[in-house]
Amino acid sequence: MSAASKLPTSGATNSGNARFNAEAAAWDANPFVHTASKHACDAILARFPDLSKDSPTYDVLEIGCGTGLLSLSLAPFTRNYVAVDAAEGMIEVLKRKVDSSNGISSNVKPIAALLEDPEDPRLPPAEPSSPSSSSSPRLKYDLITSHLVLHHIPDLHGVLTTMLGCLKPGTGRLALTDFEDCGPHSKRFHSKAKMEGVERHGIPRKWMANLMVEVGFVDVKVEEGFRMEKRVEKWEGEFSEGGGDGKVAKEGMGEIAVFPFLLCEGRRP
Ligand SMILES: C[S@@+](CC[C@H](N)C(=O)[O-])C[C@H]1O[C@@H](n2cnc3c(N)ncnc32)[C@H](O)[C@@H]1O
Repeated sequence: MSAASKLPTSGATNSGNARFNAEAAAWDANPFVHTASKHACDAILARFPDLSKDSPTYDVLEIGCGTGLLSLSLAPFTRNYVAVDAAEGMIEVLKRKVDSSNGISSNVKPIAALLEDPEDPRLPPAEPSSPSSSSSPRLKYDLITSHLVLHHIPDLHGVLTTMLGCLKPGTGRLALTDFEDCGPHSKRFHSKAKMEGVERHGIPRKWMANLMVEVGFVDVKVEEGFRMEKRVEKWEGEFSEGGGDGKVAKEGMGEIAVFPFLLCEGRRP
């Protein structure tokens, strides 16, 4: 393992699945995740002018799509939008949204999977006529997105390597968004009760750029994409007091803090 991928983590294992399955049904009730996905969508559209509603040509893969907040906003600008999440509960919510969209989101394909192989047979085949369970080559993508996911992934080197293999050689690009690790302040992003499955308190800018280069990406750019205000605990465990579930602030609790979000870009050579 390289120096770049050896960044200390919070010590958690990939136990986030249980947490996200449990949270799936209520995920969309949190206004913060809607605003965050809207910012991510706007930042991606601003950087990728070829994403077009008039003549959508992009095949896009999203890793960690959750209930599809980013997926359903970006999908109208794409030809195919493959939305993958490791938590089946999240994918079930997204499937219901797609099924009830009267065909508007028919280009969105939700898949429950922890992707470790670009040729995973659960991914759509390169040739639409091939049976999806066959060993024929899988579709390669113009763009891979992921929002608020990187800080949950124990082996980022491994996931970035899988992403690289899923992109179209020469042209396929990454656009990953997550909050930045700016030091001790960044730990405040999660309340004490939401620490399960948190592998790192944000993404360190230089470390991420080095890791992407090490994995094999070119044209790597890791820059601030937007900033967000978030209500955070004034002291660790504040949101758990008074019978709260610790995950959201009740009236009068917490204070507002500002968090920069990174947009991590790179291209498959
Ligand atoms: C904080 S949630 C964000 C969900 C969604 N992107 C949003 O902003 O609403 C993180 C999501 O990433 C998923 N996840 C974490 N690691 C993953 C992995 N290696 N592959 C696929 N999904 C993953 C979790 O199941 C969870 O749904």
